[in-house]
Amino acid sequence: MAPSAIETITVPETPTAEQLKLHTTEAALGDYKELSPTRFSHEDEVAGKDGFAPSKYPNYLPTWNPDEHYPPLVPFEHYEHGKDADPSYPDLLPKDSSVRVDLTPTIGSEVSGIQLSKLSNAGKDQLARFVAERKVVAFRKQDFADLSIQEALDFAGYFGRHHIHPTSGAPPGYPEVHVVHRAADDRTAENFFKTRTNSVAWHSDVSYELQPPGTTFLYILDKPETGGDTLFTDAVEAYNRLSPAFQQRLHGLKATHSGIEQVNSSVARGSIKRRDPVFNVHPLVRTHPATGQKSLYVNPQFTREIVGLKKEESDALLDFLYSHLALGADFQARVKWEEGTVVVWDNRVTQHTALVDWKDGNRRHLARITPQAERPYETPFEG
Ligand code: SIN
Repeated sequence: MAPSAIETITVPETPTAEQLKLHTTEAALGDYKELSPTRFSHEDEVAGKDGFAPSKYPNYLPTWNPDEHYPPLVPFEHYEHGKDADPSYPDLLPKDSSVRVDLTPTIGSEVSGIQLSKLSNAGKDQLARFVAERKVVAFRKQDFADLSIQEALDFAGYFGRHHIHPTSGAPPGYPEVHVVHRAADDRTAENFFKTRTNSVAWHSDVSYELQPPGTTFLYILDKPETGGDTLFTDAVEAYNRLSPAFQQRLHGLKATHSGIEQVNSSVARGSIKRRDPVFNVHPLVRTHPATGQKSLYVNPQFTREIVGLKKEESDALLDFLYSHLALGADFQARVKWEEGTVVVWDNRVTQHTALVDWKDGNRRHLARITPQAERPYETPFEG
């Protein structure tokens, strides 16, 4: 209804300086979207405060050491253990003791009845292959978080060279562990949602590296009662769903992936830069060395442009691919964390996003170990 002459029209309030600052900072970061880690009291996390329980794994509380600097990563030869695996998985999934439940036809399984930490090398080879096939697997009731940090690193080091993240928090002395941590009673997400409608940020971890990670481990230390799930999308099935003509058009294209904005974001909030940021060029369609499957390899966090296309052309194509990956609920899986869960995914053939949806102020604390793999490569279109 049109307002009558005597009705007042409410003019939106002028944005506050704080709101403008939030928008400006985000604009400077391009598409990079991060709900940044926030300061917390180490003492309160260790002791517990205001009705919140103490941290169950204080040895994993994150620290950011400003004096820690590393030279650029150098190329290394990755050995893909998944290629050696018996695909009937006798050592990983023994018939008499393991229980496997597939969550969807193409992506996601849950496994119980085995301990990852006890796997033989044959079992580890099968783990790499099984995860490449199922894309993401939640192993329940694991003792992994109770191992020493060095033991956890030794186990995961079988799968590739440990990646040291340029900006994330890590337990003191273990920069190879990427800690995900939102402290008890942390309410900073409320600020984030002043300028954002959701926390979804699909990505493949550190795809800007020359040799991005492959078989990747994320294990829960502390969790909210409900919420804080992690979503995964299957980049192989996303590729398979495209028409042959469109697939063929994507083959041969390459895109830049940038770690610059992530480092800028860290430095802008006064945090650390362990290494100078890099950007690298990878094929849009990559092939998995163990399964031979092809997957889409672009993500909205780190991919910037398609080499050789004009900006509008590149933006349109990337936007289509991002929506295709994000909207494919029929090729996605949702991991619900339980105490003792270790999630293993293949970062070459999936993308994931954490969800910051819980409101009870409970702590969410996880550790990620991120072995690097081969430089992404493409094999010819097969039709
Ligand atoms: C990650 O992006 O690697 C962490 C995902 C999560 O916090 O669930």
